[in-house]
Amino acid sequence: MTSTSEETTVIIVGAGVSGLTLASFLRTSGVACVVLERIDRARVEVRQRAGVVDARAVRMFEQWGLADKLLAGPLAQTIDYRVNGVGRIFETIEDDGSPGRFCTQQMLVNNLLRELIDVMAGDIRFSVTDVSIQNDEDRRPRVSYSDAAGAHEFVCDYIIGCDAEHGVSRASIPDGVLTKYSHDFGYAWLAALVEAPVTGHPIMGVSDHGFVAQLPRGPHRSRYYLQCAFSDGPADWPDTRIWDEIRLRLCDNTIENAVVHDKDFVPMRSVVYAPMQYRNLFLVGDAAHLLPPTGAKGMNLALYDVDVLAQALVRAARDRDRAALDAYSSTVLPHIWKYQEFSAWMTDTMHDAGDPTQNGTFRQMAARARLDNLFDSPTAARLHSEYQRGLN
Ligand code: FAD
Ligand code: PHB
Repeated sequence: MTSTSEETTVIIVGAGVSGLTLASFLRTSGVACVVLERIDRARVEVRQRAGVVDARAVRMFEQWGLADKLLAGPLAQTIDYRVNGVGRIFETIEDDGSPGRFCTQQMLVNNLLRELIDVMAGDIRFSVTDVSIQNDEDRRPRVSYSDAAGAHEFVCDYIIGCDAEHGVSRASIPDGVLTKYSHDFGYAWLAALVEAPVTGHPIMGVSDHGFVAQLPRGPHRSRYYLQCAFSDGPADWPDTRIWDEIRLRLCDNTIENAVVHDKDFVPMRSVVYAPMQYRNLFLVGDAAHLLPPTGAKGMNLALYDVDVLAQALVRAARDRDRAALDAYSSTVLPHIWKYQEFSAWMTDTMHDAGDPTQNGTFRQMAARARLDNLFDSPTAARLHSEYQRGLN
């Protein structure tokens, strides 16, 4: 077994969407970095998750000169907001710049891996174990890890925690430094990837029997979301029940059963940890905040953090100017709170407007009025479009 010691400028923990995007921005800017990832490349490549890259994130990739290489998929400009089977098409108001795209997280991650490894010769170390962070006040940070060859240590200037909710980065911060803000909505979504494409517009469906959505996942597949109980698991949802509930909630008996590839249960909850930094450790994406997927903002907020942090790291590494790094948390948190609010608004509206056992008939009617407003008030439609695009 070997024991090695190396040096670099930035260590990124986690090769998910935020870690890979940050690494590609830093490489593009000539800042040395190494990514440490717990699982192997094949497992990173197949993970199914978010489906929309919003207009702000598209603009970000354009500004970093990577949009053509990384993004694909149809434009995200319309949503069919259905109430008990009756559809209304909301068209996002696009005043300027590129629209968002239905580009799956999986496609973006695969393109990032190809670009980083094959084109930029980036350094990503997969299947590492025992990642441990030392972030002391009086010496350079250190990150140690193990792999099949032995134990290794990096001395670096900055550590970036892109390792999501259960990673080691946030857990390495001493108790009492961070404040946790959280809200549980009390229900979950079953997310089912199925072998049937979206044939019309993407659907967000309110129904007396609970929420249902159908969103595109490439030319042959879609992802259905079905509101379910917080404690539900695969045993509660055989494929036949999934299709029966889809037909019931969309009021459409013509929908035929198709192959269900996988089922995830996503608890609907919102979490923010603040501040998002401690000494030379900076938290990004799900390591710092979680959102219910109703607003499609989880991946987009992770990309927003990356954009701000990458620019700050480049200034610190190139110009020896830490001002933007020191201001990282206070720069990103106001934006994160706006999108927490939007995601909570979407979640309350789409679920309260449906099953009245949720929160009563008063909240049901008020939530339906909020939905009507998107179609009756140009002001409400503009604000909703700004949120959808990620541009306010
Ligand atoms: P991740 O993409 O989770 O990446 C974290 C990486 O860190 C992983 O590769 C992990 O293996 C690695 N890691 C963890 N611990 C360690 C360690 N100790 N050492 C090294 N590496 C480590 N968002 C939406 O907008 N729409 C959706 O439909 C949607 N669906 C989702 C479904 C599920 C089941 C989940 C979990 C999330 C979903 N999200 C959705 C949220 C969205 O996917 C996340 O917000 C986004 O992935 C955040 O990116 P990230 O890079 O912060 O974390
Ligand atoms: C998704 O593709 O997962 C998605 C899209 C739009 C939403 C929510 C989820 O509002």
